[in-house]
Amino acid sequence: MKDPSLRRSVTLFRAFLNEQSDPDHCYALLARDAADQLERYGPLAGRVVVDIGGGSGHFAEEFRRRGAHSYLFEPDVRELRGRTARGTVLADGYLLPLADGAADISFSSNVLEHVEDPGTFLSELVRVTAPGGLIYVSFTNWYSPWGGHEWAPWHYLGAERARRRYERRTGRSAKHTLGENLFRIHIGSTLRQVRSRTDTEVVTARARYWPFLPGVAPRIPLLREFATWNLLLILRRCP
Ligand SMILES: C[S@@+](CC[C@H](N)C(=O)[O-])C[C@H]1O[C@@H](n2cnc3c(N)ncnc32)[C@H](O)[C@@H]1O
Repeated sequence: MKDPSLRRSVTLFRAFLNEQSDPDHCYALLARDAADQLERYGPLAGRVVVDIGGGSGHFAEEFRRRGAHSYLFEPDVRELRGRTARGTVLADGYLLPLADGAADISFSSNVLEHVEDPGTFLSELVRVTAPGGLIYVSFTNWYSPWGGHEWAPWHYLGAERARRRYERRTGRSAKHTLGENLFRIHIGSTLRQVRSRTDTEVVTARARYWPFLPGVAPRIPLLREFATWNLLLILRRCP
């Protein structure tokens, strides 16, 4: 699917709305989309790609399908949903069992908002990426309409209130608790942090799912916190 395009955004949004009932379709589609995005910078075939916090493994599987040497690093065995594909490693993204520069591409989709110290997490991705290699990181920021995840958009009225409301309305336990497995992360401060790094250059900073002008929203202070929805950063490891 052409990126950006209205068709792509609508298709992704529809799949996302049905994520609970058909997660395989949703994540397989997202994985193909992310692989297409990466292949703009060169073929994945033959590359070593590490997916950090890859959950159910759809992304790692898609990279492998395209000929990459793909590995999944995931700290939570429940997120693997029983998948034990070759190349799956139970490991924390803060401390990866990889040598410096082991990967051509480090990939992390929608993990940064789930770690308490995104700067350290990012540094570990940079460490394991070879000079000239790419680092793909995307995250949903706190003031995004989806920032509160399953309790969105009520997080705008307070995290705890939103979480309690979700549990009352659905009768289910919320998956996320602010300060435990979901953290407030912002577009402006994250952009400042990555731009100040001397070991990477920012190749692109764009709204991941936007159907048009994806590079514009992240540039506008304040508005970007509400309008970006999900920030995609592609960084290149400096030689
Ligand atoms: C919302 S899921 C994203 C899964 C997948 N990457 C995707 O885009 O669909 C967040 C994932 O981050 C993982 N995670 C949380 N803390 C982590 C850490 N310190 N290191 C690596 N992964 C982590 C969780 O276990 C979970 O699988």
